[in-house]
Amino acid sequence: LPNINKCLRKGKTLFIRVDINSPIVNGKIVDDFRIRAHATTLKLASEAGAKAVVLAHQGRPGQDDFTSLEIHKPYIEKYLERPIKFVDDVAGPEARRQIKELREGEILLLENVRLLSEEVIEKVPEAQAETYLVRKLAPLGDYFVFDGFAVAHRSQPSVVGFPMVLPSCMGPVFERELRALSVVFERRGKGVLLIAGGAKISDTLKAVEQLLKSNTAEHVAVGGLVGFVFSVAKYGFVNSALRQEVEKGGYMPYVDKARALLDKYGKQIYTPIDFAVNQNGRMDVDIYSLPQVPLDIGRSTVIQFKELIENSEIVIFSGPMGYIEDERFAAGTIELMRAASKKRLILGGGHTILGAEKAGVLDKAFHVSTGGRAFIQTIGGEEMPAVKALLTSAKKFGL
Ligand code: 3PG
Repeated sequence: LPNINKCLRKGKTLFIRVDINSPIVNGKIVDDFRIRAHATTLKLASEAGAKAVVLAHQGRPGQDDFTSLEIHKPYIEKYLERPIKFVDDVAGPEARRQIKELREGEILLLENVRLLSEEVIEKVPEAQAETYLVRKLAPLGDYFVFDGFAVAHRSQPSVVGFPMVLPSCMGPVFERELRALSVVFERRGKGVLLIAGGAKISDTLKAVEQLLKSNTAEHVAVGGLVGFVFSVAKYGFVNSALRQEVEKGGYMPYVDKARALLDKYGKQIYTPIDFAVNQNGRMDVDIYSLPQVPLDIGRSTVIQFKELIENSEIVIFSGPMGYIEDERFAAGTIELMRAASKKRLILGGGHTILGAEKAGVLDKAFHVSTGGRAFIQTIGGEEMPAVKALLTSAKKFGL
């Protein structure tokens, strides 16, 4: 795939799709990790004298975090150390006017692309090239740069539509992600450990299966809600608190899937042997005597998982082991992350970054992914629509 250098031309107009979708609480951005990562891409474009038009989203229509990108602007400016432009329009007359008026080195942030209803509909790239967004904007641009790894799994107009009609490149954030993950694939499983937690159960189960089936990981250790599902699959239960939690969340269909994985790859999958619950503070209990819903993996599990880490060379950490928002129950995640930071540590998936910040290992990791679901799907070996569209584009435009 062509990298950004092929698209950086002085005076040319670049549409750059980034993913600065950030956690928002009470209307405020509470973690700007993705913004920080993409700011370097925008800086590159600006320093090359290109006219950069930034396409991005925040949340989804109907969700609390579906906001204007105006609140992202000061964060981008903070990392660029200079002002950028923002237009309260995505592809309408005002946006188009401002794009045409851009001068060399200027950066224009368009409004949340998901304000256009067509953006949240997934279709094949050829169909997305016919959308209002792409038809109105593409004629104003010279190149398309795809940098938003975190949205690479979506076959949406701003992701796959532009590459059909404009010569396209991968941005540096996206390129870094693909390179880091290829290091994992090259090892053919040897010494690769996946620690999977969090709540994205369906994707995580697929990733576990794919990693073991393709021999990409040697071992898998599970915690978080994913760990609950595997525990119920393994022990039946036995323990009603855990099972009730799985039932309440509607995760029972996944238990069968987890059981099938345990049947097939039982020796390679490690599930928790104890958990921590809140009994006037943290209390560790073995898996058979849980009085209530656990909030973290227990001490013995941490010791066992640390041994696994010790015997591995690459650790992919995706999703926390427990309820890390509460310090008492962040311990399992923190301790494992610290041990894993002595190895080649790859972090990715929802909430993982927060855990890494708490553990103080963010700058020690070999790679910190900007992706949530995209990360899990990529390590699971799924072909990303963005990659496919860029390949088609490369063939078509011969960049
Ligand atoms: C993410 O946060 O995973 C990406 O920004 C994609 O968001 P989506 O799941 O709403 O498409």
